[in-house]
Amino acid sequence: GGSDGGDGGSGGNDDGKITLGFSQVGAESGWRTANTKSIQESAAKAGIDLQFSDAQGKQENQITAIRNFITQKVDVIAFSPVVTSGWDAVLQEAKDAGIPVILTDRAVDSQDKSLYKSFIGSDFIVEGQKAGDWLVKEYEGKNEPVNIVELQGTTGSAPALDRQKGFQEKIAGNPNFKIVKSQTGDFKRADGKTVMETFLQSTPDIDVLYAHNDDMGLGAIEAIEAAGKKPGTDIKIITVDAVKDGMTALSQGKINFIVECSPLLGPQLMDLVKKADAGEEIPARVLTEETTFTQEQAKEALPTRQY
Ligand code: AHR
Repeated sequence: GGSDGGDGGSGGNDDGKITLGFSQVGAESGWRTANTKSIQESAAKAGIDLQFSDAQGKQENQITAIRNFITQKVDVIAFSPVVTSGWDAVLQEAKDAGIPVILTDRAVDSQDKSLYKSFIGSDFIVEGQKAGDWLVKEYEGKNEPVNIVELQGTTGSAPALDRQKGFQEKIAGNPNFKIVKSQTGDFKRADGKTVMETFLQSTPDIDVLYAHNDDMGLGAIEAIEAAGKKPGTDIKIITVDAVKDGMTALSQGKINFIVECSPLLGPQLMDLVKKADAGEEIPARVLTEETTFTQEQAKEALPTRQY
């Protein structure tokens, strides 16, 4: 590393490279796969030695990985916290060891902001608001009950909490909008399908599905088709992410609107890692730039979509 002055790249190496310990959530979605690829490719490109650890969706695995990074004396630690709470102790350990920590993609609820140097990623509340705004526009001038079912992301995760919050804020003004069912599908396609099956069985008159990511929406589409209904027509579908499979379904009319969440955090993360390692000041918050897609816009964007 740069700031340690002595060994020219810690983590037990003396190859002059920065060592970055990164703890990933898992491989629950297409978004996550694209995110992992972005981090691995940009680390290689930046000449950073990446110690990559997959937590398989479990917080305890992330805590163990972070403790291992501290023992190894990596130069910088970055991680995408699976849930928001329960990080204070391990973050304090990293701070005591003098290792800068960068939060990637998801936030923690720690009150002590000195426990990490920076947080790079999306504003998930804004994403939920964009989903709500679209729905409000879609039903403008109509006075009819709108039954909404919601597929939530991983329980206790920042994107699940915030995408719900932002969406609710926007639909709250119109009493016609009613969230009749809301359950987690853990950001996974298979869970999106099984939960949607139970929604369809218990609730015959579903107008809208709001899924916190594309994968759950895509699983739900299978359940809707199996029930003899037309996704995108009989049931309007809003999702978040805009990965290739989601964009394809959108362009085919099976999804109605997608709010983009960019997984391509790698290049900016590596810049922050280099600066943190050099002991430079880095911004406390780095926001990802994102857009939204209608069916027409998806058709245009698909041919050049990277992921
Ligand atoms: O934290 C980002 C979310 O995690 C993505 O929207 C979802 O697809 C992923 O699993």
